Amino acid sequence: MKCVIVSNRLPVTVVEKDGKMEFARSSGGLATGLDSLKVPGEKHWLGWAGWQAVPAERRKIRARLKKLGLYPVFLTPEHIHNYYEGYSNSTLWPLCHYFLNYMSCNKDYWRSYCEVNELFCREAMKIIEPGDQVWIHDYQLMLLPGMIRARCPEVSIGYFHHIPFPSYEMFRYLPEREEILRGLLGADLIGFHVHNYMRHFISTVYRVLGMECRLDEVILDNRAVRIDAFPMGINYDLYHGVSDLPDVCEKADELRRLAGDSKIVLSVDRLDYSKGLLPRLEAYASFLKNHPEYREKVTMIMIVVPSRDKVDIYAGLKTRIDELVGAINGAHATVNWNPVHYFYRCFDFEELAAVYSIADIALVTPIRDGMNLVAKEYLAAKRDKPGVLILSEMAGAAADLDQAISVNPADRWQIEEALLKALKMTVKQQKNALAVMQQSLARKNVACWANDFMGELRQVTERNLEMNRK
Ligand code: G6P
Repeated sequence: MKCVIVSNRLPVTVVEKDGKMEFARSSGGLATGLDSLKVPGEKHWLGWAGWQAVPAERRKIRARLKKLGLYPVFLTPEHIHNYYEGYSNSTLWPLCHYFLNYMSCNKDYWRSYCEVNELFCREAMKIIEPGDQVWIHDYQLMLLPGMIRARCPEVSIGYFHHIPFPSYEMFRYLPEREEILRGLLGADLIGFHVHNYMRHFISTVYRVLGMECRLDEVILDNRAVRIDAFPMGINYDLYHGVSDLPDVCEKADELRRLAGDSKIVLSVDRLDYSKGLLPRLEAYASFLKNHPEYREKVTMIMIVVPSRDKVDIYAGLKTRIDELVGAINGAHATVNWNPVHYFYRCFDFEELAAVYSIADIALVTPIRDGMNLVAKEYLAAKRDKPGVLILSEMAGAAADLDQAISVNPADRWQIEEALLKALKMTVKQQKNALAVMQQSLARKNVACWANDFMGELRQVTERNLEMNRK
């Protein structure tokens, strides 16, 4: 029995070494979680390799990746435009994050989304055999469970949705709502980060498709689809153990020098409107205006990781962030101090660990976020040093991190108050709150998340096969 993981992107980073391309498995959250997944047979991972390869190179790339247990799917520029930037990131992403005004509905996007899900299905069928377990990840592949089920009914299929699932009143707006829901119901188990998303999904299935639903199940003719919540954790030991490494300490010292003696407020996100970057900057600007005693005493390090910048809304957001950072620095900077140090690039793992370890406050204020692993990584990397997490109540992670200072990301005044509160907390208060959250993160790590999901998938599949035999 094999376990086949399918996600839009493969977990590889391409590095140039002596003029040659080298492929390395990335240490991203999902990749490390799935590395520690205990399954009886081999593990394979299918996904988009993330770069354009001319047909002549493809055989070579396939052979190289196969050695890492990875199977590439190659997308054309048209797929990238219509399936990835289009239906995935201009239709489903804004819909699931409650940004209807950013949602575009376009039949070319939909056609391409169906075509690419079909392409993934064809590639997957080259590896999958009856009795295998398939674990599909995220909104880019919502039709795939149904497609695989139609071709191979005796396969065990799990799907995990890494972003919010919106309420019925939002989801009903999607022209292809029925097709998407039927696609998902090809799975035996559908997982969400938090209970609310799971509840929204079940009520949407009931109201859109009129199917029989129970508290955690959708009943089909010959099987039942289990719906459950599995809050994703992080590789706790990796983040907890890293801040002592010499490389990390050296980087931490360099970054610390940027802020002098002031307290560091950290903001780290992919470029995305759902992350609340503009309201966060506005709240920080009004904090500096209303509390002049903190000027030169607080510095924000803001890291924005480039993402989807070919999509107009993302490009426009980047311009607005550049302008706002410029305006804040222009208004408040002194000869000795810059209120915001802004990086628009990807930080590697050591740099990220370094910046987590020196940050006095992590300001994590998404408007909507499926989970938010940055909040969890920050807490793990603090080890026994003090630190405060200010966390949006709209992030899935808020359900797990009840010792954080919770804020409504739309309420600028509340964010200002939270900053004040964090700056005034004693070291003892900070360490007490950290210790409680660290204990729970160490226990509910990403390996538990992956193994819990797969354990439940095995049980549900057994039961479904049994129902089918009767
Ligand atoms: C979110 C999604 C992932 C996606 C990631 C990066 O976390 O849930 O599925 O891979 O963003 O976005 P990108 O568009 O670069 O793959």
